[in-house]
Amino acid sequence: MKAYLLDPAVARYVLEHTTPPDPLLSRLARETAEVTGGDARMQIAPDQGQFLTMLTKLMRPQVAVEVGTFTGYSSLCIARGLSGGTLHCFDVSEEWTSVARRYWQEAGVADRVTLTLGPALRTLAAFDETIDLAFLDADKANYRGYYELLMERLRPGGLLLADNTLRHGWVADPMHDGDTVEDIRRFNDLVAADPRVTVVMLPVADGLTMIMKN
Ligand SMILES: C[S@@+](CC[C@H](N)C(=O)[O-])C[C@H]1O[C@@H](n2cnc3c(N)ncnc32)[C@H](O)[C@@H]1O
Repeated sequence: MKAYLLDPAVARYVLEHTTPPDPLLSRLARETAEVTGGDARMQIAPDQGQFLTMLTKLMRPQVAVEVGTFTGYSSLCIARGLSGGTLHCFDVSEEWTSVARRYWQEAGVADRVTLTLGPALRTLAAFDETIDLAFLDADKANYRGYYELLMERLRPGGLLLADNTLRHGWVADPMHDGDTVEDIRRFNDLVAADPRVTVVMLPVADGLTMIMKN
């Protein structure tokens, strides 16, 4: 369970009262655990997946972007919510995203997803479309760089979602000063002080920040 911030009984209760993943997403989660071992913890939580699909349906984006695709769970959730638009995925790993490609085919959404491989600071800089919805879930050290690139391209009223922004709650604990915790603190401070946006931090899973461009 990724609800690090909740009492385990409450976290279980939340999952029991959230629409569960369908068999395809459950199979992807199982295969990811088998193939990637401990790295499978990088996958978003099932309730986050439902949230992404619902939000995508509500927003009806024409251009959606995901930075950090891994084996495809979050991309599948976003792509399934699209009605007519395209999801542009960015990742560095050919190996992990080959699993995602297979599941996009199987889910019947491959025609609405593009994948660009390479360091996303470079590949996003070359992306020149106006973005309606973005999901950020890649290497934490570069969150601030991705944020600037995404903000330049996000339309007013567009939404950027950033994952792992509470880092198990460690961001609020001065005793924790690990690398990624400090990266996320800097990212959170940057966003909170940015006059271009309205921000809501949701204590979902490992923390999910909703950032709307004003
Ligand atoms: C937390 S995982 C993404 C999980 C995914 N959203 C899911 O739900 O399964 C982070 C991903 O970021 C990718 N990544 C790491 N460094 C990157 C970089 N410099 N540019 C692009 N992607 C990167 C990794 O290959 C990995 O797939």
